[in-house]
Amino acid sequence: MPKMNYWTDKWDLHEDVCPCDVHFNQWVAKQKIKNKQIYHFGSGTHHVVGIKQAAQKNRTFCITASKEEYQAYIDLVTENSGVAKNYLCYFGDIYLTNPALLPDFDVVTMFHLCEFFFPNTASKEYGGLTDAKVLDLFTAKTKKGGYILFYTRSMGWEKSKAVIAKWEKKAKVKKVGEFKTLLVYQKK
Ligand SMILES: C[S@@+](CC[C@H](N)C(=O)[O-])C[C@H]1O[C@@H](n2cnc3c(N)ncnc32)[C@H](O)[C@@H]1O
Repeated sequence: MPKMNYWTDKWDLHEDVCPCDVHFNQWVAKQKIKNKQIYHFGSGTHHVVGIKQAAQKNRTFCITASKEEYQAYIDLVTENSGVAKNYLCYFGDIYLTNPALLPDFDVVTMFHLCEFFFPNTASKEYGGLTDAKVLDLFTAKTKKGGYILFYTRSMGWEKSKAVIAKWEKKAKVKKVGEFKTLLVYQKK
């Protein structure tokens, strides 16, 4: 069996370089989204989405592929039961997502789509999804009326644009606008 493709790096909060998580928290506040279920792609060591959304009474399910970021999550929730109750971060490769393990979501972030696809990701041996299939899977996991957000300054944005263009033609979604660096769709 091949090893899991994980991220050998970590990401601290650099709002000037990568403001997507901060912009996401601002968007949620602006929409007055409360008591909802969020899926977030890419925690960073800072976990600002999980922390802020726990305080806003939303529940966040988040993936990290970084051992350091996952350790930071363990340290965080060890010290804070309120965050532990409302924020679940797990270690994994999003391309290996098994939909049977996930609930449905009201809001999904696909901020790092097309950034971490490895040469072997979609091989039979590894068993991973393509970026288009990741997006389809999370669209299926989004509730009717729920939101799917993209980050327009992502490293994978050029590739993502092509994936999104095909997706919006066939998926039951509509573009509802932009918020700062984010592009927002809603499931019909
Ligand atoms: C550049 S960091 C950005 C973190 C955070 N969203 C921010 O903007 O501050 C990229 C994130 O993607 C996650 N990541 C990298 N490869 C991944 C993969 N294959 N599956 C899931 N997450 C992955 C990393 O763990 C990290 O949290």
